[in-house]
Amino acid sequence: MNIITETDRLIIREFDEDDVLSLYKIESDHRIIKYIPWNRLSTMKECKRQINKYISGYQRDMLNSWAVVVKETNEVIGITQLIYSSKIRGVEIGTKIHPDYWSKGYASELTRAVVNYGLYELGIDEITAVTDVNNAGAIKSLINMGMSLKKYGYYNGAESAFFSVKRNN
Ligand SMILES: CC(C)(COP(=O)(O)OP(=O)(O)OC[C@H]1O[C@@H](n2cnc3c(N)ncnc32)[C@H](O)[C@@H]1OP(=O)(O)O)[C@@H](O)C(=O)NCCC(=O)NCCS
Repeated sequence: MNIITETDRLIIREFDEDDVLSLYKIESDHRIIKYIPWNRLSTMKECKRQINKYISGYQRDMLNSWAVVVKETNEVIGITQLIYSSKIRGVEIGTKIHPDYWSKGYASELTRAVVNYGLYELGIDEITAVTDVNNAGAIKSLINMGMSLKKYGYYNGAESAFFSVKRNN
């Protein structure tokens, strides 16, 4: 499977069929669902189907979802994605890190790398991140990587903060 980008501690790579259990552990955790209750993957079967969709999209679409892997242990601890969102009419970044690994700086670290990949390797003009206004961890990780607060508004029914970063030509 291909590596998308990497940081000092993390590899961002394409998902593999063997990642189903790791994805399930992330997607089914109630602390993740609290802030992202939509598009839920509640069973191993749904996770397997989703991974197959990711895999079939890798050849076709430059925007997709990828596994976040700790280099030292080879564990899959999260999922990150660049997707086109019709709601914001642009490219959005989204990240989920398993709660066992929160507050270690992983989201801040990987967001910087994935945003740079999107802006400078894929040539995207602007990347947006949307988060629930009560999601302190997400807001901090977006500020840490240098995204700017653009506005507040509703997104999937929740009061949300919209952050973005543009490419420097
Ligand atoms: C948001 C999320 C990705 C952050 O992951 P993370 O790896 O813990 O983030 P970081 O370690 O880079 O943390 C950034 C900052 O937020 C803080 N933080 C992390 N989790 C936090 C929490 N639950 N509550 C308060 N602060 C938190 C960290 O301590 C750190 O603070 P610092 O900059 O003062 O050191 C993770 O909490 C998550 O997966 N949440 C559920 C899904 C989600 O909300 N995704 C974001 C949608 S945009």
